[in-house]
Amino acid sequence: MSKQEDLNKLKQKISSELVCPLKDAATKMVFGKGNPDADILIIGEAPGANEDLQGIPFVGKAGKNLDSFLNLIGLTLDDVYIANILKYRPPKNRNPSKEEIINHTPYLVEQINIIQPKVILPLGKFATEFCLAHFDTTKIKTIAMGDVHGKIYKIEELTIIPMYHPAAMIYNQKLKTTLEEDFIKVGEFLKQK
Ligand code: URA
Repeated sequence: MSKQEDLNKLKQKISSELVCPLKDAATKMVFGKGNPDADILIIGEAPGANEDLQGIPFVGKAGKNLDSFLNLIGLTLDDVYIANILKYRPPKNRNPSKEEIINHTPYLVEQINIIQPKVILPLGKFATEFCLAHFDTTKIKTIAMGDVHGKIYKIEELTIIPMYHPAAMIYNQKLKTTLEEDFIKVGEFLKQK
């Protein structure tokens, strides 16, 4: 079976199996987008209002920023797959709760196992904490993005490079330069491979 077929099955499984108040309030599940055969997986936090309406991650303002960073290093949606920590939008875009992260991330782990990326770029604190805990919610520790962004972490063959969330630069313009620098580092890392 192709990775796309496996992902389609997983999406159906989430629809029928996940019990979560976020699901009842949401318009659509936001499962993922991009190329299932890509080597690069980008993990965001949770769908926003536009994503909830369309059922597609990163279609709003943060998505435009993300696209421009990817273009900066010559990448397109064909080169990456994009998913989120939460599959459904939290009300008013509040932070994901611990319980929601525990409830939703087993499906993200299944998604990762299907895609088998070589490089993961977690965007922002929640995705970074989850990845640096080796995808085990019982091992999550609080992390400051300032300490880890743009650094290269290895879990055996897998590389993890935490990035600030592109939505953060909407409120802090200085982060735009940091994000550009970090994406350029990612581009250089990919070239060496
Ligand atoms: N921010 C995220 O983290 N994910 C989305 O899908 C949209 C905005």
